[in-house]
Amino acid sequence: MFKFLKHWFRFKASHTAANSPQIDLDKVPAHIGIIMDGNGRWAKQRGLPRVAGHHSGMKNVKKITMAANDLGVKVLTMYAFSTENWKRPKDEVDFLMKLPQEFFPKEIEELIQNNVRIRMTGWKEGLPDYTLKAIEGAIERTKNNTGLILNFALNYGSRKEIMMGVQEMIRDVQAGKLQTEELDEAIFSSYMLTSELPDPDLLIRTSGELRLSNFLLWQLAYSELWFTEAYWPEFTETLFLEAIAEYQRRARRYGGI
Ligand code: FPP
Repeated sequence: MFKFLKHWFRFKASHTAANSPQIDLDKVPAHIGIIMDGNGRWAKQRGLPRVAGHHSGMKNVKKITMAANDLGVKVLTMYAFSTENWKRPKDEVDFLMKLPQEFFPKEIEELIQNNVRIRMTGWKEGLPDYTLKAIEGAIERTKNNTGLILNFALNYGSRKEIMMGVQEMIRDVQAGKLQTEELDEAIFSSYMLTSELPDPDLLIRTSGELRLSNFLLWQLAYSELWFTEAYWPEFTETLFLEAIAEYQRRARRYGGI
């Protein structure tokens, strides 16, 4: 009850605008995934280098994290760097890899004050030491926090996750830890990198692109999908609330009637 009131007051304080979308605080999605797309186009539109778009996008991560936290969202998974993003020009990759070491020192105190816990979904192998150090430091410092889990999908790709999960599962069958006949969806989920998280209820993708781009393919099976034309750096709290309001208007049937 106290928790609910806390969220209600914080939410009320920050969203009093008359035209703010109406949100039912009892039906806030527990897990929201976001494909933060359109940084490059946002920058190009303004005559800026692409990396300026990523920098502006990084600032937006903080803003939307706070909005999600105020609403009582449990997990926010942000697609920050895919296994395919290594194909980008070296300068751009280097810039993206340096963002965590700018973001966390700047934001960690406020994230801690707000009880946010940092998590990562992806492979550490291949990330530069300074990137890993920044994110692992933040994970360590926030490990006992019990509020919103801010989960960065970093060096992540869903097909690789599924293939590696299958390989590990086969190894466990061969070692006699599992029987082929007992394999089911729950067991398979436990081999995913997100094993201790609920599946996303809502997926948001910015910039008008209508695809999943190798993001949480297994986990998104029953998620509601919401797209906006807005580029990620211009994605506002109001748009975030609109996505949640639309989610709340939809009837999730999970294949039933
Ligand atoms: C896609 O836009 C965006 C990315 C590949 C990077 C997203 C990362 C952030 C917003 C910052 C993450 C913050 C931390 C702290 C890790 P795009 O470049 O594909 O845009 P375009 O389609 O317009 O070219």
